[in-house]
Amino acid sequence: MAELFEWDDDYNVGVSDIDEQHLELVALINQLHRAIRDHKASKQVRNTLDELIEYTRTHFAIEERLMRESNYPEYETHRGYHEALIDQIHVLREKLDSGEASITFELLHFLRMWLIRHILDVDKHFGAYFIANGTRPEWMVEAHAAMTNRRWWQFWKARA
Ligand SMILES: [Fe+2]
Repeated sequence: MAELFEWDDDYNVGVSDIDEQHLELVALINQLHRAIRDHKASKQVRNTLDELIEYTRTHFAIEERLMRESNYPEYETHRGYHEALIDQIHVLREKLDSGEASITFELLHFLRMWLIRHILDVDKHFGAYFIANGTRPEWMVEAHAAMTNRRWWQFWKARA
């Protein structure tokens, strides 16, 4: 069966570390979609959602650090978009916990469209800036390994 979220080469921002993390985000959204579609137990669905939330937070933190270190002039605006999504997700998680909401296809489509628009509208802009003005930092070696092996929680703890 077709996946909810198919990657398109147009989504590449040109910075391989960021592109590979976006691919993992797509894989996690698809994993959540499959869990809902196949009526997996709510605990499993919830765990997948938590994984997606943690991965997203860590990915945002990495992007924002790259922005700060490369003196990206639109850092504050971009960070604002990340924070707005995280706030929305926290509200959703509370609703899930209280039984007021469930994870629906509508939500999955919202996440998919948010990510596509965010990549095309603002991440690409930063990608072009970073290619021209930034260099891959030393800490990215560790971050990249953590993010592509889905061991980001260890990375997150190490930076706390
Ligand atoms: Fe971003």
